[in-house]
Formats: sequence, C-alpha cells, structure tokens
Amino acid sequence: SIAYLNGEFLPLEQARISPLDRGFLFGDGIYEVIPSYGGKLVGFGPHIDRMKEGLSLIEIGLDWDHQQWRDLCEQLCAKNGNGNLGVYLHVSRGADTKRYHAYPEGVQPTVFGFTFDIAEPPVADKTKAKAYKVSTTEDMRWRRCHIKSTALLGNVMHFQQGYAAGNNETILYNADKLVTEASACNVFMVKNGTVFTAPLDNQLLPGITRLMLLDVLKKYTDIPVKEEFFSLADLMAADEVWLTSSSKEVAPVTHVDGKAIGNGQIGAVWEKAQTAFEAHRY
Ligand code: PDD
Repeated sequence: SIAYLNGEFLPLEQARISPLDRGFLFGDGIYEVIPSYGGKLVGFGPHIDRMKEGLSLIEIGLDWDHQQWRDLCEQLCAKNGNGNLGVYLHVSRGADTKRYHAYPEGVQPTVFGFTFDIAEPPVADKTKAKAYKVSTTEDMRWRRCHIKSTALLGNVMHFQQGYAAGNNETILYNADKLVTEASACNVFMVKNGTVFTAPLDNQLLPGITRLMLLDVLKKYTDIPVKEEFFSLADLMAADEVWLTSSSKEVAPVTHVDGKAIGNGQIGAVWEKAQTAFEAHRY
C-alpha cells in the first residue's frame, strides 16, 4: 500500500523514520483514524478538529488547515484504491538530536499517513450483524484520556486482557465503578428505552462516532439520549450495550464478562440506531 511520510508518497514498506523520533522513544505524538467508504471520508471535519486540539494541547506546532489534511486523506484513499479504508494520520514531535524529556526547539514534526482495510459498516439487521463479547476492568491508564495520544500501551494492555479471555474488547470503569469507555471504543447502554453514554471529560476520548451518533439520534429518531455516567452494575443490568468507533460504527454487544445482556441477543434499539446512523452520518 501507499503511505505518506514528511512530504512524499511512497510504498509503506519503504517508509523510514529516525529511532530518535520522539514518537518512537516517548510515544510523543497525536493520531487519528478516519473511516472512508468508496472514497468518501466520514466525520472528516470533527476528526481534524480533534487532531488540531490534541496537537495544541501537547504543543506541537504544525499548522496544517483542514484543506491540507483533506488533500492528504483523499490522495491516500485514491492511491490505495478508494475501497473501505481506515485512514491513519500520525503527527509526532519529530527526531531530536538526543533523548531528553523536555520538548525540543526547532525540530520538524514527523507527519505520517497510511490506510488499512476496514469492514463494511454493519448491516442494520439484528439477525445478521456481528455480536461483540467484552470483558470489563478498572481503567489503569492515565488521566488525560481525552488526548488521542500515540502512547497506547495502557490501551493495548487493556485490550489484550479482553482478547486473551476470548473477547473482542474491554470496557473500562473508574475507581467509583462508573463506566467511562473501552480500550479502543466508546460505550453506550440502553435502559428502558433511553440511551446512555458517559459525558466528556479527561477519563475518555471524545469519539467522533459517539458525537455523530448522539447528533443523529437527537435529530432523526425519537430515542431519548442522556450523556450521564452509569455504573458497572447498570451496565450489567442494561437492556442493550453498544460500542462505537470509527472502524466499527455502532457495534452491538451481547455478552459482558460472559454474562448475557438483556436476552443475550442483539437489540431492537441498536437496529434503529445503526439504521439512522447509516442514513445520516456525515
Ligand atoms: N480508536 N476511545 C478510545 C480509547 C479509542 O481509541 C477510540 C478510537 C474511541 C472511538 O473514537 P472514534 O469514534 O473517534 O473512532 C474511543 C481508534 C479507532 C483506534 O485506535 O484504532
């Protein structure tokens, strides 16, 4: 596949960075994953807003505007066949001359992009969609989870915990047993017809799929939505649980820690939500 690195397009396997790149040594960078179906990017504007916000929070001075990012993403998609692609964008602080914690001066940020194949969006049909099974655990990452940092070891360890138990994700809760997000997804639950998801703060990533789903549910359905914390006990007693992420859209969860959610089948509210999402995502 064709990648982009610091101003040029090249075969991915030929892309090289310095081992002194702070992205490599410190995980000192910001990334994005933007889905694209048949050449059409989904949630492009909010994805770029989030990346610019992340770069500003960690003081990487790269001033690309939306159009520059759009040109890069569209070229990457076109050069990789305009199928169902995840566009990965990555900006790290760049290669310093030494390994020293302080932000270096006068270093050029590294800009990297490539694409990978993603699945078709799930068919909004509860008899056909893939049902997810998840683990739960206390979030042991850091307290800046709103920053989409390339330092993902905490997420990777949590994901692996669920994976090793035969599950597809790990849902995280805080010290007060409130559900925040999952290792690579946001989390929703349905209780008595109302959809709940945690409000935005430093304990979770402001997911773009989460944002678009909330917008779509409010504008195009009569399903009530609440951005409120709910507990692990609420999650276990929910009628439905969903995960959202750029590569999964709205994914139905049927089992949490081996226990069936509701009747253990994909729910009717999920079907409505994914149908509306499919029709109105932007
Ligand atoms: N994961 N929370 C975390 C910790 C995430 O890593 C992600 C995304 C999300 C969902 O965000 P969005 O809807 O903007 O994709 C929530 C990406 C896809 C990844 O790391 O591969």
